[in-house]
Amino acid sequence: MPSTKTEPIKWSAPQASREILMIPGPTELPFPVIQAMNQPPMIQYDQNFDLNVLEPINLALKKVFQTERGEVITMPGSGKTALESSALSLVEPGDRVIVIVTGRFGMLMQEVMARIGADVTEFSVEWGQPIDLVKLTKEIERVKPKMVTLVHNETSTGTTYPAAEIGKIVKGHGALFLLDTVSSLAGIDVRTDEWGADLNMTGSQKCLAAPIGMAIVGVTPPAWEAMERRKHKASSWVYDLLRWRDAWIPASRGGRVPDGAPRSQPISMPTHLTHALGVAVRLVLEEGLEQRFRRHAVAARAFRAGIDAMRLQMFPDASILSDTVSCVKTPPGIEPAAVVKLMRQTFGILIGTGLDQTRATTLRIGHMGITASPLYILPTLSALEMTLRELGYRCEAGAGVSAAQAIFAGATA
Ligand SMILES: Cc1ncc(COP(=O)(O)O)c(C=O)c1O
Repeated sequence: MPSTKTEPIKWSAPQASREILMIPGPTELPFPVIQAMNQPPMIQYDQNFDLNVLEPINLALKKVFQTERGEVITMPGSGKTALESSALSLVEPGDRVIVIVTGRFGMLMQEVMARIGADVTEFSVEWGQPIDLVKLTKEIERVKPKMVTLVHNETSTGTTYPAAEIGKIVKGHGALFLLDTVSSLAGIDVRTDEWGADLNMTGSQKCLAAPIGMAIVGVTPPAWEAMERRKHKASSWVYDLLRWRDAWIPASRGGRVPDGAPRSQPISMPTHLTHALGVAVRLVLEEGLEQRFRRHAVAARAFRAGIDAMRLQMFPDASILSDTVSCVKTPPGIEPAAVVKLMRQTFGILIGTGLDQTRATTLRIGHMGITASPLYILPTLSALEMTLRELGYRCEAGAGVSAAQAIFAGATA
C-alpha cells in the first residue's frame, strides 16, 4: 500500500557501495593503479624486478622530486618510515637538530628525532600561522644545528610553508635541510635540488595517488656525505639509507654496485605495491607536473570558494593556505566529529576532524591526486552543506556548490 505520509526520507549511504576518501590521505586511487595490483607474485630479488620494475620507478620519481643530482629510494613503509629512516641515517646521538613545529607532523618529527638521541631544539609556531623567518634565522645562528627539519605542507592545519626560502636560510648557515613533503609532493611544486632539500621525505598514499605502503626518500650528495662522515653506523639494518646506496645504487650514479652487477634491496620489496606505485608515477608524469600543480591549485580554490559561500571560515592564515588539504572551522555549537559521522553515514563521503588542539573546532578535507577535481569537490561541498544544515547550521541552499562551479568553469587549465 503506498503511504500517504509525507515524512522526509532518511538518506543513508548505500551499504554495498564503498566510501569516498576525502580525508587528507590515504586518497582515492586511479583505476589503472588498482588494476596494477591484480597480477601474480613476482620474485623481489630477481634481476628482472630490479631492472625492469623498481629501477624505472625510482628514475621516474626523480623527475617528480625534481632532482637530478639526487637519488630516490623507495622502501616498504609509510611517510613515518621515510621520516624515521632519514633521521636515523643522518643523526648521531647528541647532534643538534632544529625541528620547526607548525602542527602535528612537526611534533611527530620532533618525537622521532628525540628517540634517536638528537639534541633537539623545537622552533614552535602557532598552529595555522606563518613562520617568522627573521626569528628562525636568529635561532639557527644561536643553535648552530647540524640539520633543520621542516614540514612543507602541514596536514594537521592545511598550511604550506615557504620551503624555498627556509632552505636558503638553512643552507646559508651550513646545515642540512630535511623536508617532509608527505602531503605535498606531486600535488604542490616541490623542488628538491633548487630548494637545497638534502633529504626529501614522502609517502605513496597522498598526492601520488598510490596505495599506502611505500616510503619514498630523495637523497642528495650532501646527505650521503654526512652519512659517510658518521662515527658509528646507523643502528637500523633495513632503514639505514647508506646501506640502500651501497646495495642498490650503481657506481656510475655514486653508489657502490658495479654497473651491470646484480643489486639488492636491504628489505624484501612488496612487489604488488611497487607495480601500483609505478603506474601512479607514470600517470603523474603523463599529466605533467605543471598541469598537475595547477589542477590542485584550482581545485583548492574552488573548494575554498564553496566554503566562503557557505559562510564558513578557513582555519589557517590566508597567506599560507594549502592546495592539497583544507582545514575549515566548524560553526559554533557544531562538533566536527558529528559532521564527520553524519556525512559518512548519509553520503558515504569521508572527511576528517582536526587533530589535537584543533580536533574539536575544525574539519580537514583532502583534495589530492584524483580528488582534486570537480568530480569529487562538488559532491563533497554538497554533502557538507546538507550535513551542516541537518545539524542546525543556516546557509543559502546550494551556495557552496555554485561558487565552486564558477571557479571550475572559469579555470583555464
Ligand atoms: C606531513 C605529514 N608527515 C608525516 C605523516 C606520516 O605519514 P604516514 O601516515 O604515511 O606514516 C603524515 C601523515 O598524514 C603527514 O601528513
